[in-house]
Amino acid sequence: MKRLVLPLALAAALAAPAIACADEAIAKKNNCLKCHAVDKAKDGPSYKEVAKKMKGKPDAEAKLAEFILKGGKVGKEDHDPIKSKSPDDAKALAKWILAM
Ligand code: HEC
Repeated sequence: MKRLVLPLALAAALAAPAIACADEAIAKKNNCLKCHAVDKAKDGPSYKEVAKKMKGKPDAEAKLAEFILKGGKVGKEDHDPIKSKSPDDAKALAKWILAM
């Protein structure tokens, strides 16, 4: 078992940048970036703002993933659910946003 750890850690380190891009690709594919940007407000708040607001809350990732998957209300406005309807995509996006 022990001998597996190093190669795995290495693989994870090498894969990390690719994973970050994959998450951005999911956001692009689902049109999120039409209304959101990472660090400036567009129609919607920047993802850095969202991360700041959510960080430290219990279940932040689960709540965000649920919001992305099913849509919901923020204030008075409805937010559309993710186009792909994929729970995996929603989870990946929640993680991506919270890591900002
Ligand atoms: C048509 C424009 C539009 C699109 C497309 C869009 N959003 Fe939003 N989003 C908004 C607006 C506007 C808000 C601010 C709250 C509101 O009015 O619903 C928001 C708020 C949010 C929030 C903050 C929720 C909170 O609790 O403060 C998150 C997270 C979010 N969007 C994620 C996403 C993701 C992920 C996608 C793609 C799957 C996406 N949005 C696509 C416009 C959009």
